[in-house]
This record gives sequence, C-alpha cells and structure tokens, in this order.
Amino acid sequence: MSGSAASVAAFWAAAAPGWIRHADRHDVRGAPLGEVALRSLAVRPGERVLDVGCGCGGTTAALAAAVGGAGVAVGVDLSSAMIETARSRFPAGRHPGLRFLAADVERLDVVPGGPFDAAYSRMVLMLLADPVAGCAAVRRSLRPGGRFAATVFRAGPGNAWLPAAMLGAAPHLGALPPLPVGDEPGPFALAEPRRIDRVLTAAGFVDVAAEPHDVVMAAPDEPDDVAEWLIELGPAGAPFRRATPDAQRAARAGAVKLLARFREPGAGYRIPSALWLITARAPG
Ligand SMILES: C[S@@+](CC[C@H](N)C(=O)[O-])C[C@H]1O[C@@H](n2cnc3c(N)ncnc32)[C@H](O)[C@@H]1O
Repeated sequence: MSGSAASVAAFWAAAAPGWIRHADRHDVRGAPLGEVALRSLAVRPGERVLDVGCGCGGTTAALAAAVGGAGVAVGVDLSSAMIETARSRFPAGRHPGLRFLAADVERLDVVPGGPFDAAYSRMVLMLLADPVAGCAAVRRSLRPGGRFAATVFRAGPGNAWLPAAMLGAAPHLGALPPLPVGDEPGPFALAEPRRIDRVLTAAGFVDVAAEPHDVVMAAPDEPDDVAEWLIELGPAGAPFRRATPDAQRAARAGAVKLLARFREPGAGYRIPSALWLITARAPG
C-alpha cells in the first residue's frame, strides 16, 4: 500500500472481498486484536460510541450490545462493500442503536451520530493515508473529555504471522501492491510509540498513552482454511483471488508451510501478535 488517499482507497476496494469472505471467521479469531481496547473503554449502557474503520461490522455490533437499546454505536469505514456487508450481517431492525456509514474518516468534519462518549478502533490507524486528519476527525466527533482507545501493531518480530502468510503465498501469485516505505500507511506505520504520540497530539488529543500488549489468536487445526484467512487479510489477498486454481493451491501450500510454526497438529493454531493499546482523551 503506498501513501496517497487514492492508493489507500484502491487497496481497500481490492481487499474488501477477502474481508467479506472471512468476516465471520475474523469476528472470532481476530477478537484478541481489539479486546484490550474494548476493556479499556469499558463502554456503559446508554453511551454513544464510534467504531473507526469498522470493516464488516462485528466490533460495532459488540459495542451496540454493550451500550444497549438506549445507546448508539456508529461504525464508519472507507469500503462501501464492507459497510453493505455490515448492514446485512447486523440489520438495523434487530440491533437498535446500531448504524453504519461508508465514508473516509479523514474527509469528515465530524462523524454523524455524535457527539460520542467514546471512540474505538481495531487495527486501523496505521493504515490511514493521513492519520493526523483521521484522528482529528475522531477527536472532533467526541464530546469534551470523550475517550479513545485503539489497537495497532507493534514491530515485526512479534507479528511473524504477517510476513509468513504473505511470503509463503507471494512467489506463486502475480504482482503484489507496493509495500509501504517509512511512514507510509501499512501494518507497522505506528509501530514506533513516539510517532503515536506525535500523531494523536497533533490531532488534538490529550493524555496520549501507548501500552504494549501481547495477544494470541486461536484458530482450528485446518491449515488450508487458516492460510486462506491470513493471505486474504493482507496484500496478497487480491492477487490470490485473481490467480489460477493451480497458483492458488501453491500459494496456500506456501503459506501453510511458513505458518506451521504456529500449528500444533490436532490442537490447532496459536498465533501471537504484538500490539500497542493506544489511549487518549478529547480535551475538556
Ligand atoms: C485492517 S482493517 C480492520 C477492520 C476492522 N476494524 C477489524 O478489525 O476487523 C482496516 C479497515 O480500515 C478501513 N479504512 C482504511 N482507511 C480508512 C479511512 N480513511 N476511513 C475509514 N476507514 C478506513 C478499511 O476499509 C478497513 O476496513
């Protein structure tokens, strides 16, 4: 993914079918990637909560359940395909207070539906083309004193599953999107805590903190299925879907091989991931 808003939008348009295909799996297996932020926010019944980069809506639905019928949970995402999926997975009639909006958060003055008591974001901020603009819109959408909790990846070694899935698959696929350089949006663009502080402070937040958390994603002992899930969440996803069946088989086998270090045959996969929990508050 390279840095411009247009290339980020193109990346997510191409990635969306993979996220949609694996939405149910990712709600379960990906839950540890956001649990620390959910715990830190501790949303209460009746609150208004924003989910930034909500993908296919599973985390927004969990927030809606936490705020209950008297509260509101709004999920916003750049991908209109993922937002349509979120709406059909969690229909408004069955989930009072739950709303989804397709929009680029960086271009909004405020996210409609606020002011919010709290904002949540799971594994999104490092992928924003202009994280200061995106976080400033989140801050403006919060009430004074409103709280923000988000997760992002720490540096590479604690997240070995990311290169394993991509490097195992890539040799069998067509060209991948350009890999990020420096501060360009990508998995490790906020891996450096000083940048987290700079971005959130420039966006107008106070009490900015980044706390390391090590989590483990669990998945059943289904190597092909686990390989496809992890390939399709990343930059190899779109080339994988365009590949011939033979190339897909080879890509899957390549990823299975490099992901074997996380597998205990008969028991399943335990996939460690190293995160920052970012917390901050809107002034006032
Ligand atoms: C790694 S996915 C995480 C999705 C979801 N939070 C989850 O954990 O399952 C990143 C999401 O951020 C969204 N995104 C990227 N840039 C965005 C922007 N400028 N405004 C809103 N959403 C954005 C993408 O469309 C994608 O759904």
